[in-house]
Amino acid sequence: MPKTGSRLQRRGRAYAPNNALLAFPLQRPRFMQVRNWLAVLCLLLAGAAQGAGDPAAGKALSLACSACHGMDGATGLLPTYPDLAGQNEKYLLQQLLHIQSNKRPILEMTGQLFGKSPQDVEDLAAYYASLPGKVRAAEGAADALARAEAIYRGGALERGVPACAACHSPAGQGNAPAGFPRLSGQPAAYTAAQLKAFREGKRSTDEDYGGMMRDIARGLTDGEIEALANYLQGLAPLSPEWLGRLQLAALPQSAGAEAGMATE
Ligand code: HEC
Ligand code: HEC
Repeated sequence: MPKTGSRLQRRGRAYAPNNALLAFPLQRPRFMQVRNWLAVLCLLLAGAAQGAGDPAAGKALSLACSACHGMDGATGLLPTYPDLAGQNEKYLLQQLLHIQSNKRPILEMTGQLFGKSPQDVEDLAAYYASLPGKVRAAEGAADALARAEAIYRGGALERGVPACAACHSPAGQGNAPAGFPRLSGQPAAYTAAQLKAFREGKRSTDEDYGGMMRDIARGLTDGEIEALANYLQGLAPLSPEWLGRLQLAALPQSAGAEAGMATE
């Protein structure tokens, strides 16, 4: 499909179905609103029942994975290997299907998902989502981390970069129902490599989301990517980064704005 219109317009289109879904019941008479929401709820529940994997069955399949991702799902063999523990199930499932179909080619994982049924893949996603996530410590110079924090909370709007927190949540926990990944605690080398892969169009798994991560990463410099990755490695509720944020938020509005803090 040819890309037309501005970046924001394109992104707007990607959001349109959600907005339409939200607005839809409000335009109907009251008795119909209830029915619509009940229908949506039934669909969601049906989807949840169907899509849910079995963590115990996933654990039985995970031995080979643990060689690289760690027995706890959060101790990669190399710093460029991602944590899977604590990641949301929907995102894990989507990525596993992309890896299996080679839409996201991962050389190291060649053959790992070969012969795994759709149920096996769902079970693996459910297993890793059920494990507790790990958080590391933020690294790097204070001014670089402050710049990262400012982008994470407020974006770099002049370059079309929206606030990461809007989708990945203020403490980096992601958005499980939407399948937006948790970034909190992820090793910096992995996160930096992904942002560069999005920026250079080498990772295109965001297609279902209108290519939003490729658009966003194109607005980031190498230095910003490194800083964001180092910052995210230590970001979690109650981490020093998070507590610092709460203290800043408690200051008068102007002080917060000076420090690059935007309201979510
Ligand atoms: C030989 C090492 C190796 C093995 C074994 C392996 N992986 Fe991976 N896995 C990787 C690497 C390396 C990456 C990241 C590649 C990249 O940079 O995109 C990855 C990425 C992933 C991702 C994407 C994570 C994200 O945040 O997007 C998932 C999910 C995953 N692996 C699951 C599994 C599962 C489940 C198994 C077992 C069936 C497994 N892996 C076995 C090396 C391995
Ligand atoms: C509008 C929503 C949105 C915003 C804003 C956003 N992201 Fe994302 N991000 C996503 C989605 C959706 C994915 C999953 C894409 C896919 O399926 O591969 C993602 C994936 C990622 C990943 C890959 C995670 C992994 O485990 O491999 C990283 C890293 C990331 N985003 C960082 C950022 C950073 C840094 C920012 C801010 C500069 C940001 N994102 C802003 C929606 C967003």
